[in-house]
Amino acid sequence: MDFSIKACDWSKGAQSGFLTGKSDCVVIGVFESQSLSGAALAIDEATKGLVTRIVKAGDMEGKAGSTLFLHEVQGIGASRVLLVGLGKQDAFTQKAYGEAVKAAWRAILGTKIVQVTFTLAQLPVKERSSDWAVRAAILALRSETYRFTQLKSKPDTTPRALKRIVFSVDSADEKAAKVAAKQGAALANGMDLTRDLGNLPGNVCTPTYLGNVAKKLAKDWKLKVEVLGQKQIEALKMGSFLSVTRGSVEPPQFIVLQYQGAGAKEAPVVLVGKGITFDTGGISLKPGEAMDEMKYDMCGAGSVLGTMRAVAEMGLKLNVVALVPTCENMPAGNATKPGDIVTSMSGTTIEVLNTDAEGRLILCDALTYAERFKPAAVVDVATLTGACIIALGHHNAGLFSKDDALAGELLDASREADDPAWRMPLDDEYQDQLKSNFADVANIGGRPAGSVTAACFLSRFTQAYPWAHLDIAGVAWKSGAAKGATGRPVPLLTQFLIDRAGQ
Ligand code: BES
Ligand code: MN
Ligand code: ZN
Repeated sequence: MDFSIKACDWSKGAQSGFLTGKSDCVVIGVFESQSLSGAALAIDEATKGLVTRIVKAGDMEGKAGSTLFLHEVQGIGASRVLLVGLGKQDAFTQKAYGEAVKAAWRAILGTKIVQVTFTLAQLPVKERSSDWAVRAAILALRSETYRFTQLKSKPDTTPRALKRIVFSVDSADEKAAKVAAKQGAALANGMDLTRDLGNLPGNVCTPTYLGNVAKKLAKDWKLKVEVLGQKQIEALKMGSFLSVTRGSVEPPQFIVLQYQGAGAKEAPVVLVGKGITFDTGGISLKPGEAMDEMKYDMCGAGSVLGTMRAVAEMGLKLNVVALVPTCENMPAGNATKPGDIVTSMSGTTIEVLNTDAEGRLILCDALTYAERFKPAAVVDVATLTGACIIALGHHNAGLFSKDDALAGELLDASREADDPAWRMPLDDEYQDQLKSNFADVANIGGRPAGSVTAACFLSRFTQAYPWAHLDIAGVAWKSGAAKGATGRPVPLLTQFLIDRAGQ
């Protein structure tokens, strides 16, 4: 799909050039007040009041999410007009805009329309700019068209009719909208990768598979990549990471993927992603119900790789390193047992009281490894705790950081990207729950505040740099009939990096 931007100031005269341009469909919005403005007014005038007549007849009342195609329209270059209900004008928030956009794409995707002129991004969305609206429309379309059928015996390969989308924006917004269109497509590509990796089953998306994806990304986008195997991980003395992979026959991998968009001396942002390609719980075996969903336990890794793809395609001017410790968590005769004590790369000894709290065990060694990059900031991303779902549900990701500035940046990015996160506490008082009688620290802190004690565990390995942790257990995938990966938090992470790069 090809996205482009065309400046068009509807208030300044007839815009006849724009209106006579050929396309299959022009998308315009109608508020409940039914007062036409901008593109809708211009098209109404060019079609001798057609839109007004339709509205007066009561066929389009402007109700949020309603749509109506007008066919064989005379007087403009497009053969169809799609009217989209926008709801109440004074309640036209980002949510209302999102609903209107989704309804528009659904209507269009149900037709053979190839080329669309889309004018909704010019509407005044509360507290949002036109370029934001362009990006949101691109992401909404790409999310509507995403499908995962590669493992069906007859994969869905029918091409989409829709090919070209032209966004009209005011000329003052043209430059920013062009950047937004490019970034929106890159972000969608990154999210698609993340979703694919999440949706692939554990017998396909193994640690070796993730390593190969990283190598392919490096080749396609001129990144630097190293994929360390068992021997090299042993040489690094990542005893904590290795304790998780013990029971698995799949070899572990430690992925180091580097994007250099700024001077070599500039401190990178390091992203660390949990890459458990299947989490059975290990000897502390999980119950069988919905265990299949533990194929999604590598969504942290997937989102970090998807973000690298997006950042590389955008060509952001900053340095980013992705670290992905990846392995399976399996029960076996040689698997780590509850009570076993292991030594992390940092030298800290850990009593593994529950082998199902394995994410923190692989992340802590990656966080120690991160020190060698002298990072400007480190953000780890993990489907870390069921407790985070209990605390925040499936809307907000959990954000943990002692660094107010870094937390603020991530929350700002989260709002801008419409990828919600909520700050959680990380007080030292919670550290007491991780006391071990036999080692430096235990890997679990009991039921109270389970997502907080998990973050507290990680914090012990992050003293060398500004650090934040995102627990995405509740947001990385959907369960039930719509089961599937969401691609979150790639929008948040990418926006954070866009902001850091000043782009
Ligand atoms: N991958 C899980 C967390 C998880 C569970 C994410 C369900 C999404 C849905 C993690 O490895 C885990 O098992 N955590 C345990 C920790 C506990 C043993 C302290 C949990 O949350 O139950
Ligand atoms: Mn687990
Ligand atoms: Zn896990």
